[in-house]
Amino acid sequence: MLDELRHPVVQAPMAGGMSTPELAAAVSNAGGLGFLAAGYLIPRDVREQVHAVRRLTDQPFGVNIFVPDTSTVDGPALARYRDRLTVEAQRYGVELGDAVDEDDGWIGKLAVVREERVPVVSFTFGCPDSFVMAELKEAGCTVVVTVTSATEASKAVAAGADALCVQGSEAGAHRGTFQNNAGPLDDTSLLPLLRKVIAAVDAPLIATGGLSCGADVAAVLVAGARAAQLGTMFLLCPEAGTSQVHRDALVREGRTAVTRAFTGRPARALVNRFVTKHSAAAPTAYPHVHHLTRMLRGAGDPEAMSLWAGQAHEFAREMPAAELVTTLGDGARAAIAEAARRFS
Ligand SMILES: Cc1cc2nc3c(=O)[nH]c(=O)nc-3n(C[C@H](O)[C@H](O)[C@H](O)COP(=O)(O)O)c2cc1C
Repeated sequence: MLDELRHPVVQAPMAGGMSTPELAAAVSNAGGLGFLAAGYLIPRDVREQVHAVRRLTDQPFGVNIFVPDTSTVDGPALARYRDRLTVEAQRYGVELGDAVDEDDGWIGKLAVVREERVPVVSFTFGCPDSFVMAELKEAGCTVVVTVTSATEASKAVAAGADALCVQGSEAGAHRGTFQNNAGPLDDTSLLPLLRKVIAAVDAPLIATGGLSCGADVAAVLVAGARAAQLGTMFLLCPEAGTSQVHRDALVREGRTAVTRAFTGRPARALVNRFVTKHSAAAPTAYPHVHHLTRMLRGAGDPEAMSLWAGQAHEFAREMPAAELVTTLGDGARAAIAEAARRFS
């Protein structure tokens, strides 16, 4: 499937309303692979988005699903974090949410992608068991698992993944790490991570994290990936559902950091007041913290919003998704030709 793309470019699934059916379809129509993000949606809405994509393209596309997190949660630490955020709620005149646990509609979403025979189904935050994988493959889906280490890559291949999405630590938004409470975060960046994964498994790889132009796409293809997945660069496309505040913040130079402050899972965001003030105190508690901070993040203040961004965010430019796919694909081809000339 990855070898059939006209441009070896995957538009990252971006939960939270950014990867719209219009964005996914535009990318697939342009010869890349567009993705819907099922995260945070209810299964019925996922099905509607799948139908919407199919009205806009007859090309392959993907749907991404969050694997439920079974990590244990430190209840007292979560309670302390809730207390800490009370002043933030008062500041914005909103309520803190209930820090509930739930599985993001896991069973319902698996049923949707199976019944709809979605061409590519990718997972993040964990690895589905081999039974789930086999059912999807029987329905004709290509199964991709996001990995952030060679150990995760080996587990995903053993469970039956058709391909892996290798996520370097440069990546915008959530790390795909299988276990939220597995100790210190592995911060290996994309190129060394690709090398480690290639040494551990024999599987088609999609490389993702901090890529911003055709030359970057070329770099990961030369390093052994079959395709490059970009998220942040697609956030400025007119087809994306990105808020204006987020768009304005992305193009400014500014630091990013990996933080649990917004959701309880490590995720890369632009550094703002909320990140600076609360990251050190944020507990390992997903999706509890995600629900706790929902109204704060929605209050509209860029200093308290989760402005997800990869490390190369300031290179994002507003352009139609089809143009971005073509620019990346053609740029990669030119960069590879240019690099090859250095040897003559
Ligand atoms: C706003 C945003 C939301 C994201 N949501 C998801 C998601 O729902 N599922 C997923 O697998 N990855 C998600 N990602 C991570 C991407 O798949 C990818 O790893 C990342 O965008 C790569 O880094 P880059 O943003 O520097 O290109 C998201 C990324 C961004 C920027």
